[in-house]
Amino acid sequence: MSEAGGVASLLVLFFHVLVFSGVVDSATFTILNQCAYTVWPGILSNAGTPQLPTTGFALQPGQSNAISVPASWSGRLWGRTLCAQNATEGRFVCVTGDCGSPTVECSGSGAVPPATLAEFTLDGANGLDFYDVSLVDGYNLPMWVVPRGGKGGNCTATGCAADLNAGCPKELQVDTDGGGASVACKSACEAFGDPQYCCSGAYSTPATCKPSGYSEFFKQACPTAYSYAYDDGTSIFTCASADYVITFCPSPSSSVKAAGDPAPTSNSSAPAALIALQTSASNRTRLRSRPFVAPMALAAVWQLLQLLSI
Ligand SMILES: *[C@@H]1O[C@H](CO)[C@@H](O)[C@H](O)[C@H]1NC(C)=O
Ligand SMILES: *[C@@H]1O[C@H](CO)[C@@H](O)[C@H](O)[C@H]1NC(C)=O
Ligand SMILES: *[C@@H]1O[C@H](CO)[C@@H](O)[C@H](O)[C@H]1NC(C)=O
Ligand SMILES: *[C@@H]1O[C@H](CO)[C@@H](O)[C@H](O)[C@H]1NC(C)=O
Repeated sequence: MSEAGGVASLLVLFFHVLVFSGVVDSATFTILNQCAYTVWPGILSNAGTPQLPTTGFALQPGQSNAISVPASWSGRLWGRTLCAQNATEGRFVCVTGDCGSPTVECSGSGAVPPATLAEFTLDGANGLDFYDVSLVDGYNLPMWVVPRGGKGGNCTATGCAADLNAGCPKELQVDTDGGGASVACKSACEAFGDPQYCCSGAYSTPATCKPSGYSEFFKQACPTAYSYAYDDGTSIFTCASADYVITFCPSPSSSVKAAGDPAPTSNSSAPAALIALQTSASNRTRLRSRPFVAPMALAAVWQLLQLLSI
């Protein structure tokens, strides 16, 4: 065999080892709609990260969709509500979480606030996934993120299980039809544009930007979600090599009735339907743990020995 041929074979072998040893890896996001209404999830990759094959779709009540997310993906995911093809605007329009795109796919556009956001940086510092649920851009529906099958980091569930729309302070409410029913709850930053709420200008450091009465409304109802920009300590979670289940309306009965009411007593354990889903999905493990990895590694070693004996 020529030297060039040998090098080419080695490259092919190296590729095989990479692929089948799990270095090239992906995570599964299972997105589940437990709301009594249709939710249209939107997905936006961070700058410099390619968009996923799907960036928006519909989920009927009870439906779920499992999508494969590349290793090292970073981006955000949210739910759009009250969507329809709008003849006047000639495009697909959502009352909350709209991404401004012509179709159901968001294709690189993000959510118009207010929207509950799940944020991910997979395989970041120390090989950990970083994830959080943020109400910094306001809130539109309950959302819960559960890591599954991961290790390292804190690997705990986070999100906002409470329905905050009814209890949203009047001045933050989004009441599109004037009928008195709020469909989303703005952040104080969006509602008032005050640097003190936005953590901007003279308030752009963790030392100067403090929680406000408004951010505390969100924090009390949803203690593990970001309630303002520097809420990192209690709101960022980490896990390695995990898959994630993202549920809209994890517990249908957790409506916050009025501002100032005690926080709902929802505990952090996953709701029953979610546990059922996780169990049924537990065979869909990540590439690196599949049983064919060992035979493939053996085959690769055998190929290597063949090459070396030329
Ligand atoms: C379509 O969009 C217009 C303008 O934004 C809005 O006034 C109207 O209510 C929308 N129609 C429907 C059916 O949502
Ligand atoms: C989770 O673990 C990370 C370190 O891996 C830490 O920075 C973060 O504060 C922890 N989150 C919580 C809510 O304790
Ligand atoms: C958590 O919530 C579930 C369902 O609402 C309930 O059955 C369980 O007893 C709760 N656990 C704790 C520790 O409160
Ligand atoms: C998972 O796989 C095992 C064997 O591979 C099978 O016995 C079990 O029924 C599967 N579980 C589910 C929930 O599909």
